[in-house]
Amino acid sequence: MSTGTQPISPPHRPVRLAVIGTGSRGMTYGREGVRTGQAVVTAVVEPRARRRELAAAEFGVPAGRALASWPELFALPDLDVDAVVVATPDREHTEPALAAIARGLPLLLEKPMAPTEEEARRIVAAADAAGVLVCVAHVLRYSAYTQAVLASLDAGAVGEVVSVDHLEPVGWWHQAHSFVRGNWRREDTSSPMLLAKCCHDLDWLSAVIRRPARRVSSFGSLSHFTPANKPAGAADRCLDCAVEPTCPYSARKIYLDHVDDPAARRWPLSVLTEDLTEAGVTKALREGPYGRCVYDCDNDVVDHQVVALEYDGGVTASLTMTAFTPMAFRRTRIFGTHGMLEGDGHTLSVLDFLTGETTTQQVLDPADPEAGDGHLGADAALTTTFLTAVAEGRPELVLTTPAESLATHGVVWAAERARHGGRVEEIPAPVS
Ligand SMILES: NC(=O)c1ccc[n+]([C@@H]2O[C@H](COP(=O)([O-])OP(=O)(O)OC[C@H]3O[C@@H](n4cnc5c(N)ncnc54)[C@H](O)[C@@H]3O)[C@@H](O)[C@H]2O)c1
Repeated sequence: MSTGTQPISPPHRPVRLAVIGTGSRGMTYGREGVRTGQAVVTAVVEPRARRRELAAAEFGVPAGRALASWPELFALPDLDVDAVVVATPDREHTEPALAAIARGLPLLLEKPMAPTEEEARRIVAAADAAGVLVCVAHVLRYSAYTQAVLASLDAGAVGEVVSVDHLEPVGWWHQAHSFVRGNWRREDTSSPMLLAKCCHDLDWLSAVIRRPARRVSSFGSLSHFTPANKPAGAADRCLDCAVEPTCPYSARKIYLDHVDDPAARRWPLSVLTEDLTEAGVTKALREGPYGRCVYDCDNDVVDHQVVALEYDGGVTASLTMTAFTPMAFRRTRIFGTHGMLEGDGHTLSVLDFLTGETTTQQVLDPADPEAGDGHLGADAALTTTFLTAVAEGRPELVLTTPAESLATHGVVWAAERARHGGRVEEIPAPVS
């Protein structure tokens, strides 16, 4: 058995992967591993029967190895697995992660690594004690765009980094889909919005600034998607609503108007139903959560939040996460002593204070409709990195240790304490 610190043998055979949670993320990793020939999926765990059957059929999982619960996986007499993907909902990460680590199995663990700091600490402690590779899915770190930003900073393009301004433009309809009507709408069933959406951003800022965060404050609230803002005459469901034509959050506009669009069918329509006909989507909007009025859901996560950070040495950063934008990739401005870098996921531009000239680097082609897929190609890069690390016993290929993941998740939890307490939170230095 490999813990991810020795090569699997014989060398370079495909990694035998168990995927726990065959929803959107689990299938992404499984498919990418199979597409590259780096992995074969030898087991799937999924409580939804239809999803389980479809995943097992797609991956050719042997009989008896498409399971409804993860304890059944670890109880198999012949495990036949080299590594595990945990891509379950936010509150279902800790126990299967600990079970995989206890079996010495390298783990690709979806973010957030756990819903609470205490659970995340248990995962890190278990991984450290067992010497097991745990790769938390900080996908943004793995993109060509991020590598270009880091290369530019390393080349001294802006001198010393002094401050950073970072925007996470969630997008009005994406907010409505995931964070008002959908699976991430409530803290008690998923996570605070900052953990669900921006543990990526706070991790990314740490990667770019390369210093530990020391102090944080934060403000934010759920301002718009509340019953108080329900227009007069609005119905409980968009398909019955008289004011739907004037509502930008209309489920008819977000879903039904896009049933023929292949990209929309992949996401978000596939989240609503497996019957992607007009009738199937209409049924989902009549009966399911995604047809509800956005002003009349049981949501409580924020729709806008700011975080102000101070890092070691006085470097500062601000993060704005807001629903009220087009859905776009993050935008960042990095202010240095000798220049300013601006990036939007596709393009980097650097203004050199000495020459007054701006140089622009096109990392991805904005005209290529697929260039931005999968977190700008980072889903594929992360999968390949993890599988190579497992196959070759090279854990150093993974860009974060569990302790580093815990530290950047810790910034999220500190920001949430600051927001709720209306104060500045100190972030203790990690205990090594
Ligand atoms: N890295 C990223 O950029 C990124 C992006 C989106 C989501 N996520 C995270 O990935 C995780 C999965 O998200 P998703 O979008 O794939 O959700 P999803 O709902 O599409 O998939 C989750 C799957 O897990 C299954 N499941 C539920 N309980 C389970 C259990 N106890 N054991 C096994 N399977 C179980 C569900 O039936 C579902 O099929 C979440 O934690 C989410 O926050 C990460």
